[in-house]
Amino acid sequence: MRHLMSPLDFTTSELDKLFDLANDIEHNPAKYAHACDGKIMATCFYEPSTRTRLSFESAMTRLGGSVIGFSDANSSSAAKGESVSDTIRVISCYADICAMRHFKEGAPMVASEKAEIPVINAGDGGHQHPTQTLTDLLTIRSLKGRLNNFTIGLCGDLKFGRTVHSLINALVRYDNIKFIFISPEELKVPDYITEMLKEKNIPYEEVIRLENVMPELDMLYMTRVQKERFFNEEDYMRLKDFYILDPAKMELAKDDMLVLHPLPRVNEISVEVDNDPRAAYFKQARYGVYVRMALILTLLELA
Ligand code: CP
Repeated sequence: MRHLMSPLDFTTSELDKLFDLANDIEHNPAKYAHACDGKIMATCFYEPSTRTRLSFESAMTRLGGSVIGFSDANSSSAAKGESVSDTIRVISCYADICAMRHFKEGAPMVASEKAEIPVINAGDGGHQHPTQTLTDLLTIRSLKGRLNNFTIGLCGDLKFGRTVHSLINALVRYDNIKFIFISPEELKVPDYITEMLKEKNIPYEEVIRLENVMPELDMLYMTRVQKERFFNEEDYMRLKDFYILDPAKMELAKDDMLVLHPLPRVNEISVEVDNDPRAAYFKQARYGVYVRMALILTLLELA
């Protein structure tokens, strides 16, 4: 039995297989409409979500399976003090696979150690968000035709943004990737990530001004400042609108640069950018369904 805790749980050749399957699902949905008949997915979300929970539910439903779960820790027995370990042992009696989001880093890993079914980490605190990374990689591969040879700018909250941490970890396995980290001093990417890049000899720069690096980028990954992980409101208010991507900044970018964002967006991308053909963030949300369908089939050994 296999779980997904980190994007590194799959080798790059396993990821290629997963993405080929996701693209086949995209182009031939009818072929997969009954692939999970009779199977049940549990979505156990201890933290708010729109995309991850609903795209898993959409994915399982589109595969012919059904879904049970909770979207708020307070509507589960966690509110009475039940441990994640006990909850997953019970969920294992009700479902064939589980996607879990938790505010505590490592909670889905604890669940996977007690589970009798595959567990998918759907985001744990500020740590990892592997299925967002699968979504990001599938989007890049589908729209650019490759996962190597590019300069990617990651902009915004690089300290608390778990999607950023997962994506960097995944991209270092591909050739000729350069990272440009664009953030205020207070929201810099954690040291353990820059140490890892130094060890692997992977080029990166850390800058504050987005405008200065726009012309270099093949991809710009914007992120929201993570309000829920700040210790005080004052710091959040000071930093929340530090970056706003608008049409004037897009003028500085390459004609084929992609703008990605895991969403939700707050103010960091102006809505006027949405109609720019380089804005790929709503397409990215759609790819999230295909890759989660492929992941469910793979972990249930139905692919
Ligand atoms: N991208 C993402 O994880 O969105 P949700 O928090 O809405 O699931």
